Amino acid sequence: MDAPTAPFPLPRAGGALADAFLLRPERLYLDCAAHAPRLRAVQAAAGIELERESRQPWTQDWNALIALIERVRASAARWFDGDADGVALVPSVAYALSIAAANVPLHAGDAVLVLAGQFPSNLLPWQQRCVDVGAHVRVVADPQGDWTPAVLDALHGHADVRGLALPQAYWRDGRLLDLDRIADAAHARGAWLVLDLSQSLGALPADLARWRPLFAASAGYKWLLGADGLAWLWAAPDGRDCGRSIEHGWFNRGARDDWRFPIDRPADFLAGARRFDGSGLIDRIRLAKAEAAFAQLAAWEPRALLSHLELRTAALREALQAHEVPIGIAEPAAPHLLGLRPGAAWDACVRALDAAGIDITARHGVLRIAPHLHVDVEAMRHVANVLARALR
Ligand SMILES: Cc1ncc(COP(=O)(O)O)c(C=O)c1O
Repeated sequence: MDAPTAPFPLPRAGGALADAFLLRPERLYLDCAAHAPRLRAVQAAAGIELERESRQPWTQDWNALIALIERVRASAARWFDGDADGVALVPSVAYALSIAAANVPLHAGDAVLVLAGQFPSNLLPWQQRCVDVGAHVRVVADPQGDWTPAVLDALHGHADVRGLALPQAYWRDGRLLDLDRIADAAHARGAWLVLDLSQSLGALPADLARWRPLFAASAGYKWLLGADGLAWLWAAPDGRDCGRSIEHGWFNRGARDDWRFPIDRPADFLAGARRFDGSGLIDRIRLAKAEAAFAQLAAWEPRALLSHLELRTAALREALQAHEVPIGIAEPAAPHLLGLRPGAAWDACVRALDAAGIDITARHGVLRIAPHLHVDVEAMRHVANVLARALR
């Protein structure tokens, strides 16, 4: 089979795309939805910081640290409509969405709409806020197909829905939600929207101007290819200007040059979404990793990157069809993330993939296949061959 071509060329610094990553040659890693493969650039940036930290822990240039934080914030903002002032650096999505849950309007009797089986970091904060105010979580039952009409039905069918806390791509199997339609319907109803973009940002762009969420969050170590322990929260203007942080420290409340803080009241928050920055940002290794990852993503150019990821999932799809493998695909599928449903052939498929050295997440009846650029289309066809053989 000829190698398919993507509509947008990927700029390369010479060498194969896989050379950009640190890989285990004996395994085929297809689990970016769990954790991105490590970029060499990220490893190198971390190494430089680790070396400095180990040899010279006393070199703490405060101004250089703040400059690094602001550079990383500006790079992250590229994925949030270029709005650096709206971006906060936080340790996790659970932290980000706990801030969101603490700040959205919600009253006794209101409901927050979530998907069945939604990732716990986008469920637990809502459950707790609901307990606090006497509201409740309303769950959209899994339609076993397109989530969007099911979400719209739930929104239209229940007058108590005050807000929706949703992903763009469903973490278990990559089913894509049509956030254009959902956002329009939510805003028409006066309901707010909070988004967990962890399974899309870095692969798919976010259209914040169109969706108008109050908050949007993403993990940093999946499709954004960055650091563990550094996630992202974008806050709409209202939230960033007067929202309440869940943590109060010298990172989000202005440290004066002389390090004296007023006693009669807390020092003012820093400007914009910086009020939500989590503490621990003194860890420059995480920051350096994120900076290197954003630089690599920018060099690949988001549109080109997405078209090349789509080439990989399309190659798998086409090869499965060509083999007439009786495996369902979760639809509507994201261009970067496929959920295969082998049904009764589950055990055979899981065993065959593992024996062939192919790393995926196999859970909830779904084989979740999440390649990045380190994998070529031939490797994706190989996955289809393995599955076809397992089912013969
Ligand atoms: C949809 C989704 N949201 C969030 C996360 C990570 O959440 P946290 O940073 O709270 O661990 C994951 C990780 O698998 C995820 O799949």
